[in-house]
Amino acid sequence: MNATTTELVEQVTRHRLYTHPIWEHWAESPPPPDVVGALFHQIQCFCASTRPGGALPEGLRALGLGHQAELLEEIVASEAGHGPELATMAAHIINQAAGRSVFGDLYDQAVIEAGLKKASDRILGTLPAYDPITGLTVQARRAITVFERRKLTDPASVMRNLGTALALEIISNQELIPGEKLALVDSGHYRVSLDAPEMHYLKEHWGECGAEHQHEANVVTAVETALSRDNEQLIHRGVVDFLEALVRLWDVLDAALLQSGYAEAA
Ligand SMILES: [Fe+2]
Ligand SMILES: [Fe+2]
Repeated sequence: MNATTTELVEQVTRHRLYTHPIWEHWAESPPPPDVVGALFHQIQCFCASTRPGGALPEGLRALGLGHQAELLEEIVASEAGHGPELATMAAHIINQAAGRSVFGDLYDQAVIEAGLKKASDRILGTLPAYDPITGLTVQARRAITVFERRKLTDPASVMRNLGTALALEIISNQELIPGEKLALVDSGHYRVSLDAPEMHYLKEHWGECGAEHQHEANVVTAVETALSRDNEQLIHRGVVDFLEALVRLWDVLDAALLQSGYAEAA
């Protein structure tokens, strides 16, 4: 890895998002099922916003970066089917947390996602600037907005988006997926194993053979080979945009749901 790419990677791994306590707090004591639903709603909507490539591959090609465009397209293609699988895992975890079948059909994505949103409305609906239509906190909306920039194809936005993709894939591979594994599997709260069919989302994403490991390798190569003196500041800004937005989402979910001592009314 060249020195500038190494610096960009270290910018991610040194950021407080990288060692955020949200997953440890989830693993320490099991949140009530409604809280789990609220957490999954915010996380699910954020993750969904990161999957489409938008105009990023097209923008890279317009800059003569065809190989980098292909590397990004591989990531986007591998995301197919992940939305339904995340919904299945969330529903299974909530059923396990509740000790009863809250979601009767683990494969009905629309019903599950509607249920997660309702839980979010109940638990987080009074937060300032909570949007009742989408059920999103202002912090989730800001984190999602960073990915809406993928609609733009001007060279500065394309390079910034490449930086955002770098930070996203490092955090997904090294923070988010390991964090979910800690909270959902290793904690023992939900009596689930990675090999259970309902947990396929996590199995698919986790570890050295997982999707996120491959995404990280792809985007590191793309950045490494696209970097120049002219664009490194823009890539850097895209990294910071992502880190600063997501850390605020983790902060609010951690404070409102996991450290608050909230317990469901009897
Ligand atoms: Fe995915
Ligand atoms: Fe990824």
